[in-house]
Amino acid sequence: MPVMTTHSPIRTEIAGVPVMDLARQFGTPTFVYDAAKILERLADLKAFDSVRFAQKACSNLAIVDLIRRHGGLVDAVSAYEVRRALAAGYEPHGSPPPVVYTADIFDAESLDLVVEKNIHVNCGSPDMIDQYGSRAPGREITLRINPGFGHGHSQKTNTGGDSSKHGIWHEQLHDCLVNADNYGLSITGLHMHIGSGVDFEHLSQVCDAMEKAAVELGRSLKTISTGGGLPTPYREEDTHIDIGKFFELWNSTRNRLEDRFGHEIRLEVEPGRYLSAESGYLIAEIRAVKKQADNTYYLVDAGFNNLARPILYGAYHPISIAPADGDVHRPLVDVVVGGPLCESGDIFTQEEGGFVARRALPVAAVGDLLVIECAGAYGSVMGSNYNSKPMAAEVLLQDGRADLIRRRQTFEEMVAGEIIPGRA
Ligand code: LLP
Repeated sequence: MPVMTTHSPIRTEIAGVPVMDLARQFGTPTFVYDAAKILERLADLKAFDSVRFAQKACSNLAIVDLIRRHGGLVDAVSAYEVRRALAAGYEPHGSPPPVVYTADIFDAESLDLVVEKNIHVNCGSPDMIDQYGSRAPGREITLRINPGFGHGHSQKTNTGGDSSKHGIWHEQLHDCLVNADNYGLSITGLHMHIGSGVDFEHLSQVCDAMEKAAVELGRSLKTISTGGGLPTPYREEDTHIDIGKFFELWNSTRNRLEDRFGHEIRLEVEPGRYLSAESGYLIAEIRAVKKQADNTYYLVDAGFNNLARPILYGAYHPISIAPADGDVHRPLVDVVVGGPLCESGDIFTQEEGGFVARRALPVAAVGDLLVIECAGAYGSVMGSNYNSKPMAAEVLLQDGRADLIRRRQTFEEMVAGEIIPGRA
C-alpha cells in the first residue's frame, strides 16, 4: 500500500482565524473559503482581456458576487447557473457578455431563459444552433469546438476527442456556419476547452487548432476563449502553472489572427479550479479512531457527500489536523481517512480505481479537527444528500471576518419537496 505524506500536517488557522473557532461557531462539516486567495488568482490572469469564472467549480452566490465585484465575468452551464449569475448581480447582457451560457444542450428551461433574458450562448452542438436560431434569429453566438483531441487529470475530465460528448466536432464547423447563416445568427467567437489539467504540449496543439478553426470562420470573429482547465497545485510537488507562458501562447495566436483579419480580437480565459480550489478548506471533526488489523482509520463527519473528488477520480487533497488541545508537536502516523457514509468507498485517502492509501498525519483523537485542503473547486457544488446528510455550511473569510455564506441545510429543507401521496 503506497504511503503518501502531506505538506501541512498541522493547521491551527485559516487566513488568521483559528480553525477551532470556526468549528465552534459554524459546526462541522463546513467549507471555509479564503477570499484573498481567490482574488490573488484572479489578479494572476489580468493579462487576459476577460477572465470568465466557470462557476460550476464553486457557485455560491457570495463567491460569484466576489468575483463580479473584482471584474471577473461568469460562465453558466445551466438555467440555474444563469439565475445564480443574475442573482449575484451580473447584468444579463453587454459587451463583452457578462454571462455566457455554455453547454452541449438546451433543456426547455434554459432555452426559454436565454431567449427571454438575451443571455449570450456558446453552442456545444449543432442542434443548439437550430433550436436557438429558430427562437432568436439574428443574434450573436459563439461555438465551442471539439478539436478532435483532449487532455485531463482523469479520463472523466478529458473534454476533447471522439470519446468526449463535448463541443462541436471540428469537421462540422463548415456545416454549422452555413446553418447559422440560415437563421441570421452571427458567429462572433470560438471556444475550446479540452479538459481540466492542461499541459503546454497540448496547449500549443489547441492554439493551432483554434487558429485553423478561426481561419475557417473568417472575419466575423471577435473573441477567442481558451476555456478553463488551468491546473492548480494539489500535491506538495505540484507547482503553479506558468501563467506568463500560458498567456504568451494564446496571445501569439490572437496576434496572428488580428493581423490576418485586420481588427482586434478579445482573448478570454475561463477557469474554474484555478480561481477557487486553493481558497477552500473542508473542516471536519474526527469522530472515531479505529484499528482494522494494520490500518488505523480516522473517521470524520464529512464524507463523499461533501467532497466527491477522491471517490470519483482518486483525487489527492492535502489533509491536516487542527489539534483540540493546541499541541502542534504530535508525531506522525500512517492512517486512512474516511467519512461517515454507509459505503466502503467513503475514503478521502484513495487512489484512482478505489485503492485505499495511507497518509502520514499527526496522531489524533476524537474531538480533533481534520482539514481537507484545496477543496474550493468541485467540493460543495458536487455535494449531495446521500445517506440523508445535510449540505454543509459555507463560510467566507475576508479581512479577518468570517461570514456564513450558506447555512447548514435543515431536515425540513432536505425533505421540503417530498410528498407522501394521500397525506395532506
Ligand atoms: N469551461 C468549460 C467549458 C468546462 O467544461 C470546464 C470544466 C471549465 C471551463 C472549468 O474547468 P477547470 O478550470 O475548473 O478545470 N469535477 C471535476 C472537473 C470537471 C470539469 C468540468 N468542466 C473535478 O473535480 O476535477
